[in-house]
Amino acid sequence: MSLLKDVHAHLILVRNERMLAFLQLTWASSLSFPSDFKFGSATASYQVEGGWDADGKGPSIWDRYVHEFPGDIKGNATGDVAGDSYHQWREDVKAAAKMKLQFYRFSINWPRVLPTGFANEINPAGVKYYSDLIDALLAEGIEPIVTIFHWELPVKMQDLGGWTNPLIVKWFGDYARVVYTLYADRVKTWLTLNEPNTVCDYFYNSGVFATRIKESDFAPFLCNKHMMLAHATAYRIFDKEFRPKYKGKISIAPHALWIEPATPEDEALAELGRQHQLGRYSHPIYSKEGGWPPSVEKVMLEHSLQQGHTESRLPAFTEQEIEFMKGTADYYAMNQYTTYVIRPSKAGDEAGMWFLTGSPELQATLYHPEKATYGTAYILPVYPEGMRKMMSWVKQQYGDYPILITENGFSSTGSQLDDHQRVDYIKNYLEQILLAMYKDKVKVMGYTAWSLIDSFEWMDGYETKFGLYEIDYNHPNRTRTPRLSSFYYSCVIAERSLDVAESCYKKDSSKVSSDDKNEIDKKYSPPVNDEL
Ligand code: BGC
Repeated sequence: MSLLKDVHAHLILVRNERMLAFLQLTWASSLSFPSDFKFGSATASYQVEGGWDADGKGPSIWDRYVHEFPGDIKGNATGDVAGDSYHQWREDVKAAAKMKLQFYRFSINWPRVLPTGFANEINPAGVKYYSDLIDALLAEGIEPIVTIFHWELPVKMQDLGGWTNPLIVKWFGDYARVVYTLYADRVKTWLTLNEPNTVCDYFYNSGVFATRIKESDFAPFLCNKHMMLAHATAYRIFDKEFRPKYKGKISIAPHALWIEPATPEDEALAELGRQHQLGRYSHPIYSKEGGWPPSVEKVMLEHSLQQGHTESRLPAFTEQEIEFMKGTADYYAMNQYTTYVIRPSKAGDEAGMWFLTGSPELQATLYHPEKATYGTAYILPVYPEGMRKMMSWVKQQYGDYPILITENGFSSTGSQLDDHQRVDYIKNYLEQILLAMYKDKVKVMGYTAWSLIDSFEWMDGYETKFGLYEIDYNHPNRTRTPRLSSFYYSCVIAERSLDVAESCYKKDSSKVSSDDKNEIDKKYSPPVNDEL
């Protein structure tokens, strides 16, 4: 009974605070977004494409992983078919067009274009697939935003050490050059790597996810170094060989986990945590001095020497490398979902795992904010206030880079077309973005709702859903059905404001005018196989 009371009191508190954010906005500024603010949505290749071995595609580490260790993934799921976007991509463009998205962020599956990963052999069918998708988006007035790497490393490269091998810096550069050669005439906004900190820190520290390698001492830091250099290489190639002719901007999208101190005394530790989490992936690019964040460099050296190593496990950069990486982003991209709390570890605490439960190097423990609420993904506590704090921190650390939120979304389960919680989530996070813009004077380019359609949610298979559109995984065509959140989001986009009509909170397809609907429907051929 008292637990129920606590939960109730907690929810009232959360609701009151969110109400306050809303009032702050209406009093002080505006619920409207500036005219240059862009709204979009996103997916990633392995999570939606399927066609895992279609038409000359080579295998990625995810193809190999799901086939070799099916039991690792909920429901023994694989991405073999997923949302079948490899065949149903017109339906994705249609969904994006119905919402009147201004951009659609998708990623290129490395071995679909280069079957072995190396640039000596190109797969024409893969090239055509992305080319057609880009053309169809542009025809709808939707800007394609392309991520070059969202975790599908070609197996051959993993077998050569993957991101722990320094040669990958060049291999990634060669791959990026191929992609620019093919698409830079039409793609003007690029992201090199999706969540390098998730790939290096979370994956190697946990040993789950596709490499299945658990090695916490060296792998995360070697991977970190090589990902920074690979990003900078791809940026320099773009800048020198393509930008003069095609224009365009390019960045990298880390997982921007906001870290709160447990008590005011823990602020210095929280700051060290932020540098460890995001600084290692941003400082080399955006800071004036370049290289690793000095506070992390110091802690890593001390810890490594204590362990009997003769040098830091965080590998040094040369002066030349520091210069090479500095300034290699035209805007600041971030995936922002969540906030954790940090406190010093106590005797008896288990050595934490960065960035989920703590850090042996920082001697710190991480846990979830008490005020958080939850969707299905437990590791992503919902905490909208963290969005504003994260954005303001980036401005304070690195200056006035325009920020693009490249992912933010709510996880649900089961078939839920009336996804009121996702609607609230989007509204609450957008409110915090407005506060960051109007109160903290942060420059913001736009917002990306994750995800356009349901997708293969990595270790969670298909049980956890983020889509604005639901996918029917029992239908051979993987039919897409709009959720309430897609209607709400299209209202926000149409009004360019959070001040939308009451009807936007109810599912009502009349919000897409019937003229628009027919226009859009007419343009797309019916799905290939509609028999069932
Ligand atoms: C990743 C996505 C993933 C999402 C939700 C992000 O870390 O970039 O691939 O689906 O989080 O878990």
